[in-house]
Amino acid sequence: MTDPLVSAAWAVREQAYAPYSRFAVGAALEAEDGRIFAGCNVENASYGLTVCAERSAVFQAVAAGVRRFRRVVVAPGVEPPAAPCGACRQVLREFGPDLLVEAVGPQSRKQWRMRELLPDAFGPESLA
Ligand code: THU
Repeated sequence: MTDPLVSAAWAVREQAYAPYSRFAVGAALEAEDGRIFAGCNVENASYGLTVCAERSAVFQAVAAGVRRFRRVVVAPGVEPPAAPCGACRQVLREFGPDLLVEAVGPQSRKQWRMRELLPDAFGPESLA
């Protein structure tokens, strides 16, 4: 059966605004309550202001009052599927080291726990 989170990541990838890199990315985040929040990359003529798909999905969720997540699927459209960038790893890690991260490509998928993608992370607990 089709994974709704994977479908959501591919679907939102269609909305990516990536006129500079032409590298469209979609991300879909599954909340603990089952809701899905999707985001795409949004580039800017001032290149450094680009927001990645993963952060875009996180911000959608947080703006809806949701902060507890089970899984995120990222669809970068390439094979092998690329893992989230460093900035997005840090932002995702804010919401927990147990988060399951999946990168899906046209032919294969990869899976990690957040703690594997960003070991020894600086997180909310580091501020104690
Ligand atoms: N990008 C993402 O959306 N997520 C990532 O994890 C890596 C990179 C975007 C940023 C930029 O718009 C394009 O992909 C090329 O770097």
